[in-house]
Amino acid sequence: MDGNGRWGVNKGLTRSHGHNKGVSVLKNIIKVSKKLGVKVLTVYAFSTENWTRPLEEVKFLLNLFEKVLEKEIDELNKELIRIKFIGDLSPFSEDLRKKFIEAENITHYNDQFTLNICTNYGGRQELVKVAKELSRKSISGEIKPDQINEEMFESHLLTCDFQDPDLLIRTSGEKRISNFLLWQLAYSEIYITDVLWPEFDENEFYKAIIDYQSRNRRFGGIKSVSNQSLKSSLSYR
Ligand code: IPE
Ligand code: MG
Repeated sequence: MDGNGRWGVNKGLTRSHGHNKGVSVLKNIIKVSKKLGVKVLTVYAFSTENWTRPLEEVKFLLNLFEKVLEKEIDELNKELIRIKFIGDLSPFSEDLRKKFIEAENITHYNDQFTLNICTNYGGRQELVKVAKELSRKSISGEIKPDQINEEMFESHLLTCDFQDPDLLIRTSGEKRISNFLLWQLAYSEIYITDVLWPEFDENEFYKAIIDYQSRNRRFGGIKSVSNQSLKSSLSYR
């Protein structure tokens, strides 16, 4: 969800205005995703690198998380949306952590749609976490190093309950992954738009999906695999 700050400044407002607008855009994109039958939407809300921003902005963002959660949780639950926070939640205040966990617990049994919110998430940090866990298990004898394969590795990722994303949308014209889901994006289709996140509307979302529908997904083979989830295509592999 990139481009909030620039949008605010371009409008002659503040970066914070951009973040506020970004929240209402996310609400709309959740609604549209549900309408289209998307089952899992994963958004990058706060990266492990975002702590390097000016303290004012970090504080504003953390406060925004708290306010939005308080305000929206009942509605999200009514809409049968399951909320999951993906990332290392330990640096957040106890209050905020409680709110994250409470939101996960309240919505745990909703099975229509999952919203994964990547918060203090970093792809490299996630891979290091997996490496540590597998090393510990090897040393304790729970597993043998030779048993480690892609499946076992994946089962230790923070996203282990979910299939890999079919489509990655990057707003604001940046052409990089920025430490997002490094393992999981291996075969995702990438759509980059110059539109800043606060202006990413239903129409822009359709453009991304229509573009995705025209892609020829081969997963390293030569035959096209129809646009279905990576998991089903793995059996093809
Ligand atoms: C994305 O917008 C929101 C967060 C990372 C929290 P940015 O804040 O990165 O906006 P730009 O890229 O500076 O315009
Ligand atoms: Mg940015």
